[in-house]
Amino acid sequence: MTASFWKTLPQPIIGLAPMDGVTDSAFRYIVATYGKPDIVFTEFTNVHDICSGRLKVLDSLRYSEVERPVIAQIYGKDPALFYQAAHVVCELGFDGLDINMGCPSKNVASSGSGAGLIRTPNLALELMDHARKGIQDWAAGQSLAEIGLKPSALQAIAQLKAEHPDLTEYQERASIPLSVKTRLGFDCNIIDEWSDCLIQGHPEVISMHGRTLSQMYRGQSDWKAIAQAATRIRQHGILAIGNGDIKSLTEAHQRIETSGVHGVLIGRGALGNPWIFQEIEQVRQAITTGSQLEWKTSEPSLDEKFQAMINHAECFETIHGTERFVRMRKHLGWYCSSFPHAAAMRAKMVRTNSTQDVTNLLQAYLKEQAVTEPPAFASTSA
Ligand SMILES: Cc1cc2nc3c(=O)[nH]c(=O)nc-3n(C[C@H](O)[C@H](O)[C@H](O)COP(=O)(O)O)c2cc1C
Repeated sequence: MTASFWKTLPQPIIGLAPMDGVTDSAFRYIVATYGKPDIVFTEFTNVHDICSGRLKVLDSLRYSEVERPVIAQIYGKDPALFYQAAHVVCELGFDGLDINMGCPSKNVASSGSGAGLIRTPNLALELMDHARKGIQDWAAGQSLAEIGLKPSALQAIAQLKAEHPDLTEYQERASIPLSVKTRLGFDCNIIDEWSDCLIQGHPEVISMHGRTLSQMYRGQSDWKAIAQAATRIRQHGILAIGNGDIKSLTEAHQRIETSGVHGVLIGRGALGNPWIFQEIEQVRQAITTGSQLEWKTSEPSLDEKFQAMINHAECFETIHGTERFVRMRKHLGWYCSSFPHAAAMRAKMVRTNSTQDVTNLLQAYLKEQAVTEPPAFASTSA
């Protein structure tokens, strides 16, 4: 058993929130290189898919070393599969395991997984128990073959693990920390009793998105409710992380100051904006010294933005190939804001099929701008 990385992180912690279809390994790599959040989460992955070892699904468990500490988020409702999936997550070298108890999507929540677990607290605790037992048994030396995974799954997992040669040769078996990410409640705010329940499962961290399942993404994240729950959670030596609607480090600073959380997660604020995590140290300094956070937010220049788009596309292509480039398009669209004719560029970006297409479009844009609108890149928004 080694000390949890959570305990050694500088506080307040500022991390990238998990987002299905968004926080894939290419995006996390770009965020880690441009901004370096304190922690990142994978997209959530279904425990059944993990245990069946379908390589395509296991793609969501790819990562690169620069992202560490990197936490794998899993979801489902079958305790036995949580036991097995925890083994796989450990074997793949993740720094932490997070259970999703907040996804509101119909497919997930109505089947009793994700935010559906808020209605079945005993099952939620059972899943935590099984995941923890899986982590402990793996750390004690149990192999994936011993827990009954199919040979095809073992092969797929070994293939994924081979992407981390250091791990393959030198991996020490140590328990990784278990955490939970959830919402305020199902159809109303019950975060006080719900967090009291989760506390009984002894996670190291409880991350809270300040909305109920019924709210989906409507309304505002309720930071008062988060603050209230954070007070209870802290008393048990568990880290409380708040989440919802943070669009800048200035806002992160303000939320941390007023809610008493140990840290925050930023999700949508990072879309097309991997720079958002730059200067986290300044937030920590302001909190430590009790001073105001004073800096001019440094918008990336057009060159920096275009370079990031090319780097991101290249990274995606290296990891996933051009066959899946469609999944990259939305990211390219998100970068297209705050420069002249950004909307027109966005419309073109969502039809690209390769990094070469992206580069061609950006070069054509720069050429056109140089001819028609010298020399200005004023801050005209699209
Ligand atoms: C497209 C999308 C996908 C998401 N997928 C996940 C997920 O896989 N796991 C999870 O715990 N939360 C997921 N979330 C919720 C976010 O982690 C976060 O709680 C929510 O977006 C509120 O934070 P924000 O306002 O900073 O975006 C997702 C959110 C979005 C917008």
